[in-house]
Amino acid sequence: MAFRRKHLLGIEPLHPSEITAILDLADQYVDLNRRDVKHADALRGLTQVNMFFENSTRTQASFELAGKRLGADVMNMAMQASSIKKGETLIDTAMTLNAMHPDLLVVRHPHSGAVDLLAQKVNCAVLNAGDGRHEHPTQALLDALTIRRAKGRLHRLNIAICGDVAHSRVARSNLILLGKMENRIRLIGPPTLVPAQFAEFGAEVYEDMREGLRDVDVVMMLRLQKERMDGGFIPSEREYYHRYGLDAEKLAFAKPDAIVMHPGPMNRGVEIDGEIADDINRSVIQEQVEMGVAVRMAAMDLLARNLRAARAEPVEA
Ligand code: NCD
Repeated sequence: MAFRRKHLLGIEPLHPSEITAILDLADQYVDLNRRDVKHADALRGLTQVNMFFENSTRTQASFELAGKRLGADVMNMAMQASSIKKGETLIDTAMTLNAMHPDLLVVRHPHSGAVDLLAQKVNCAVLNAGDGRHEHPTQALLDALTIRRAKGRLHRLNIAICGDVAHSRVARSNLILLGKMENRIRLIGPPTLVPAQFAEFGAEVYEDMREGLRDVDVVMMLRLQKERMDGGFIPSEREYYHRYGLDAEKLAFAKPDAIVMHPGPMNRGVEIDGEIADDINRSVIQEQVEMGVAVRMAAMDLLARNLRAARAEPVEA
């Protein structure tokens, strides 16, 4: 089954073969991105609008580069300066943009579900670039591509997702994707940050970092999402680093060839030791960024094909 959807709102509805279709095309775009001339024309003539209602460095930059490399006209809406600040609702803003005939709308929003709602109101393909604590599908896809290229496969791996699982859309999308591909997933963190209900996704939950990391192939660290915390989830950052910060001593419990991942932005010395993050023999954090551009090119290419096919359908008289 190829990827035949109108939007990319989350990993949850996707079939494993759709995930594979996106990753296979992304592999081709990795090659293109390593050439001197990085242009293809999959999005030529189309208009891509990026609407980020929350701060972003990597995701926004990589969606912008991805669109430009594929020949789209790309516009970044400065949401801080937009009419949202004057009280216009999300839907009014979306309808206004819709009247300008965009083809691809890339949206990040602090509220879970906001991007799905918006997708129901517009006539173009919508890509979720992160909605609240809900989903961040292109992040999970770029993580999957990074793992597949580093480990040579994307199934039957032991993968640890560590830290602030409770507030993380990255953790949620990864948990769903890696579960669909039949990996064994462990969630590691204090009970305040790894609620027991996450076990429903079929993951094993560990409170002790060393025990949880034992023999894993992949160590995925998460940022403490302080902006989404409304109380005392951790005693102190120092204590948190002591128990859950990834350093060489804790990493030694994982397999000798285990890779270290982090979606960024990193809090060095809080969830991860700076030296581990920069260790090119263990850390694939820079590869994740590279894969991000390729995965976003692949996702937008496939959505644009579907958009064109839908528009080309004969209109009944
Ligand atoms: C993540 C996000 O925004 O959800 N960042 C990203 O997209 N690379 C993770 C985070 O903010 O911690």
